Amino acid sequence: MLEWAAFDGLICGQYRAFMEGCMRKLMLMLSCGTLAAAAGTSGTVTFNKDVLPILQSNCQSCHRPGEVAPMSFLTYQETRPWAKAIKAAVLSKKMPPWFADGKYGHFQNERRLTEAQTKALASWADNGAPEGEAKDKPASLSFTEGWNIKPDVTIEMPTPFEVPPSGIIEYQYIVVPTHFDKDVWVTAAEVRPGNRTVMHHVIIYVRPPGSTYLANAKPGVPFVPVTFERDANGAAIRRAPQQAPQAAAQGAQQANAPRPQQGVGSMAGVELLTAYAPGLQAQHFDAPIADAAKFVPAGSDFVFQLHYTTNGKAATDQTKIGLTFASKPPKYRYFTSNATQQGFEIPPNDPNYESHSAVVINEPAQLVWLMPHMHVRGKDFLYEAAYPTGETETLLSVPRYDFNWQLGYEEAKPLPLPKGTRIECTAHHDNSANNPYNPNPNVTVRWGDQTWEEMMMGFFAVVVDAGVKPQDVIGRAAPRKPAL
Ligand code: HEC
Repeated sequence: MLEWAAFDGLICGQYRAFMEGCMRKLMLMLSCGTLAAAAGTSGTVTFNKDVLPILQSNCQSCHRPGEVAPMSFLTYQETRPWAKAIKAAVLSKKMPPWFADGKYGHFQNERRLTEAQTKALASWADNGAPEGEAKDKPASLSFTEGWNIKPDVTIEMPTPFEVPPSGIIEYQYIVVPTHFDKDVWVTAAEVRPGNRTVMHHVIIYVRPPGSTYLANAKPGVPFVPVTFERDANGAAIRRAPQQAPQAAAQGAQQANAPRPQQGVGSMAGVELLTAYAPGLQAQHFDAPIADAAKFVPAGSDFVFQLHYTTNGKAATDQTKIGLTFASKPPKYRYFTSNATQQGFEIPPNDPNYESHSAVVINEPAQLVWLMPHMHVRGKDFLYEAAYPTGETETLLSVPRYDFNWQLGYEEAKPLPLPKGTRIECTAHHDNSANNPYNPNPNVTVRWGDQTWEEMMMGFFAVVVDAGVKPQDVIGRAAPRKPAL
């Protein structure tokens, strides 16, 4: 991330110089009465001189072989056929994918083209998408084949999972022992799906020794803790009863996490390590604050939560995770938690159903990362901080949530959260027929794993002193606004 930021800065600098050149040129051309190819110091916007630097800093992280985008933009030959589509995608702001309202917050991983960059891509397409001169071409970026981090260790599902051509696949949970014989501190983590075409998302949880979470699952064997009875639409019609007393007794750390279902055990002490979904990339836990890392106790297991979607063809997947380790115990701990609301009931045809969730920060912490999560009826999502002084601040606003993209928003500067600050989330779901992704506007929608059920989760990460226990930091809180 830091490398990328530095690189972006460089490109911006080059771009400013380039645009100043353009303005001078434009004045000249205007005085000569020509308007053709208004941008570019040599008269025409070319791939080598103008377009490739933009693609390198804004697009190639996804648009290259083996990454999430379906086509590569590394070379002129690969990019040329997409010139018109690129123009359309950047003008409509469909690309690069970024959903935060620019009015709130500053994010380190912000993907937004400047007006000048958008114009350059558009005029390149309008002018026949020329390649330009070889001498103008910047050096190619070097990417590690496959991994975007240089893992010290990789951990893979022990056997491939066979995905059938059709049907609903319940979430699969695979417990994979780490065999770590001492505590480790993880500085970066990356999930590499074995087969992206059937992978909706992956979440990796750390299950510490002694945890009862998924205690019945045999290591290495795909486990489905809850099988729902489903109606003709595929919606769950009966849920396993909740383990209410046990859930209530859980540590505050997981107070707002999904309530465990029967036979699942307690999620107390279980932490989300990292996740994969379109838009999420390798996570660097030491990027927001140097000398911070995620803690994985000796003897922990990783729980792979895998959401496969069928696409008409049988497929196999064998997903793995790569980790880099701190060389010595760090000063700070990077910890992921969430403010979740499970108690909603979205009425049929409700176009704007509001729900709230909140947590309270019981020890001073620094906020570094936010990731809203809903399903296909998700409409918008807002994070606010309510400070002990009574002031509130909008941390992140996602006015048009898009389930196809799961984006993590990394704070440009860690945001201090004094003791007693509350993180409050407000979400809206659109259960009307106007929502093109809505599979059925005529049903009441409740919490559930599958995409046609709903979620309301405000994931966030904080950095605290390494010695502080997460359950002492994050507490349960009633939302300031009405619960539902
Ligand atoms: C975070 C990953 C990511 C980044 C960054 C990204 N793309 Fe994409 N892009 C995708 C994926 C995935 C698709 C295919 C799915 C889709 O169309 O939504 C896509 C599709 C496209 C398409 C086809 C759109 C269509 O309507 O068929 C174009 C054109 C495109 N991207 C251009 C760009 C450009 C130009 C940039 C940089 C300015 C960029 N993308 C940055 C992931 C990315």
